[in-house]
Amino acid sequence: MQTLWDHRFAQRTQRMGSSAIRELLKLTESPDIISFGGGMPAPDVFPIQEFREACERVLRDSGDFALQYGPTDGYPPLRELIVRHTARYGIEVTPENILVTSGSQQALDLLGKILINPGDHILVESPTYLGALQAWSAYGAEYVTVPMDEYGMVTDALEAALRSGPKFIYVLPNFQNPTGVTLALERRKKLIELADQYGVPIVEDDPYGQLRYEGEHLPSVVVLDGQFRNSGESCYRGNVIYLSTFSKILSPGLRLAWVVAPPEVIRKLVQAKQGADLHTSAFTQFVAYEVSRGGFLDRHIKVIRDCYGKRRDVMLAAMDGYFPPGVEWTHPEGGLFLWAILPETMNSAEVLKMALQQKVAFVPGAPFYPTGGGHNTMRINFSYSDPDKIREGIARLGRVLYEAMGEPLGIYH
Ligand SMILES: Cc1ncc(COP(=O)(O)O)c(C=O)c1O
Repeated sequence: MQTLWDHRFAQRTQRMGSSAIRELLKLTESPDIISFGGGMPAPDVFPIQEFREACERVLRDSGDFALQYGPTDGYPPLRELIVRHTARYGIEVTPENILVTSGSQQALDLLGKILINPGDHILVESPTYLGALQAWSAYGAEYVTVPMDEYGMVTDALEAALRSGPKFIYVLPNFQNPTGVTLALERRKKLIELADQYGVPIVEDDPYGQLRYEGEHLPSVVVLDGQFRNSGESCYRGNVIYLSTFSKILSPGLRLAWVVAPPEVIRKLVQAKQGADLHTSAFTQFVAYEVSRGGFLDRHIKVIRDCYGKRRDVMLAAMDGYFPPGVEWTHPEGGLFLWAILPETMNSAEVLKMALQQKVAFVPGAPFYPTGGGHNTMRINFSYSDPDKIREGIARLGRVLYEAMGEPLGIYH
C-alpha cells in the first residue's frame, strides 16, 4: 500500500526489508510452538543471580560513572578484560585494537558505514549470515559469492571471485550461521594468502568460536594473519577485522560485543559510532565487566558448552530416528545451528507452512543465499529448546517431512 511517506524515504531504504527471520519469529512466539527458528541462547543458562549481584555492586560502588556518558571506544576495564579473554583463544592484541559495540550487529553496520560505497562488491560465503546482508544492502552493497561445502568456504573458488575486485571478504569460520560448518585450517591459510595477494581485507565474524563441543579449537583467521605477517608487535596491524560478542556467552539482551582491528580502523569506527549512538550503554558495560571478571566468564562458557553440546547430541540422535531417508544434515562441532538439505525437488518454505500447522518451526534456507538458491535447505537451532522439546519437535518435523515427500511414516513414528 502506498503512503504519504513513500516518496520521502531516502533511496537507500529501497534496499531495506524486514528480516525474514524476525518476521518468522513473531509467528513462533506462541508457547505451543516448538521453535527451532531463532538463534537464541537458552534462558536456562542466563546467570540471573550473578547479574542481580553485579548490578547492586555497580550501583553501590560506581553508580556515578555507570549512569553517566562514557567513552565511545568502551569502558576501559571491559576492553582490558576482552584483551585477556581473547588471548585465551590465541588473539593477542592491545586495548588500542578493541572497540566495544552494541552487539556485533552494530559492528557489521558500522563496517558498512566506513567501508561500503554504493555498488561495491562484498565477497561472502553462500549461504551466509542474513543480518550482514541486511546491514550492508542499505549501503548499496552488491554480493559476489563463494560456495560452501562441509569444510567451509570453498577456497578453490575464491580466486575467481577475488578477480571481481571485492571491497572485503566476509567469512564465518566457526560453526557458521546458518550451516554449522567450520572452515578447515588449510583453507584458513589459503584465504589469508589470497586476500593478501589481491590486497582485499577480511571481516571475520565469530560469535560461536568459544562454543565448541568436540574436536580441537582452530586458530582464528586474525591469529593466522598475525603469524603470516610475523610482525612481532603486540598491537595488531594486519588485514583482518575480527568480530565477537557477549550475546552467546552471557546474554544477547546485553547488546554487547567487540571488534578487534588495526588501530586506524578502530579510530574510523569510533567516528562512525559517535554518529550512531555516542557509545554502548555504560551501565551495561560496567555490569558485564562485574559479572565476567575473576574467571566467571570462563566457568560460565563451560556450563553453556555442556548444555548445548548435550542438546546438539539429542537433536542429531532424534534426526537419525525421525527424519526420512533422502534428507541430509550437517554435524556441527559447536555453535547453535545445524543445516538440513532436502531432496532438490522440495521447497523448505512450503515445508514450513506444513510444520507450523504441526506447531514446530525452523528457518527456510533460501534467504541466506544472496544471489539465489537454497530452496531445499533449512536452518535448525538446537540451543534454545530443552531435550524433551527437541525430541518432540524433531518427531513432529520428521512426520511433516514424510508427508511432504509422500512417504509412509518411518518405524520410529
Ligand atoms: C554470524 C553472526 N553475526 C552477528 C550476529 C549478531 O550478534 P549480536 O547479538 O552480537 O548483535 C549474529 C547473531 O546471531 C550472528 O549469528
